[in-house]
Amino acid sequence: MNTSFERCKETKVEWLTPPELAIKLGKFDLDPCSPINPPFLHAKNNFTISDDGLSKDWFGRVYLNPPYGRGMELWLEKLKFHGNGIALIFARTETKCFFDHIWNDADAILFVKGRIRFYHISGIQAGTPGAPSVFIAYGKENALALKNSGIEGRYLDLKL
Ligand SMILES: C[S@@+](CC[C@H](N)C(=O)[O-])C[C@H]1O[C@@H](n2cnc3c(N)ncnc32)[C@H](O)[C@@H]1O
Repeated sequence: MNTSFERCKETKVEWLTPPELAIKLGKFDLDPCSPINPPFLHAKNNFTISDDGLSKDWFGRVYLNPPYGRGMELWLEKLKFHGNGIALIFARTETKCFFDHIWNDADAILFVKGRIRFYHISGIQAGTPGAPSVFIAYGKENALALKNSGIEGRYLDLKL
């Protein structure tokens, strides 16, 4: 079975953050892109594809692990303007998304050591993706939460 994160076409947007990792970042008010039948939740309030979380007003502290593929940068752009939250995406540091919404705009990033074993929608922990992951913090409090999370990796303050 092909468990590659990017090559698994049918399920590629449904790779879920391990709850044991998200919990290290503290409590979130909103996950704007949560599965319709989630095996677990990362935030108090959740939008799904039926709501179209991208078109909604976001509020409070946001946790964002966006649908991967085309259009992903729109989610990062929205979090940048919202200014309060933490995102998890692939560490593709050369991309337009990184240069338009992260390098000059985020407060801090944490490159995850090793590869994250994401969960499948069934609640089972699936294979590792074909790329490394990075957490991105917008807002000083989120930078601090990332710094103190205990998640193994390399933390970088971008607003020094
Ligand atoms: C990579 S998964 C992450 C799920 C969850 N946020 C997590 O971290 O465990 C992306 C999720 O976005 C959902 N999604 C896709 N398009 C969406 C939209 N327009 N509005 C809200 N959710 C959407 C998918 O159904 C999928 O569950």
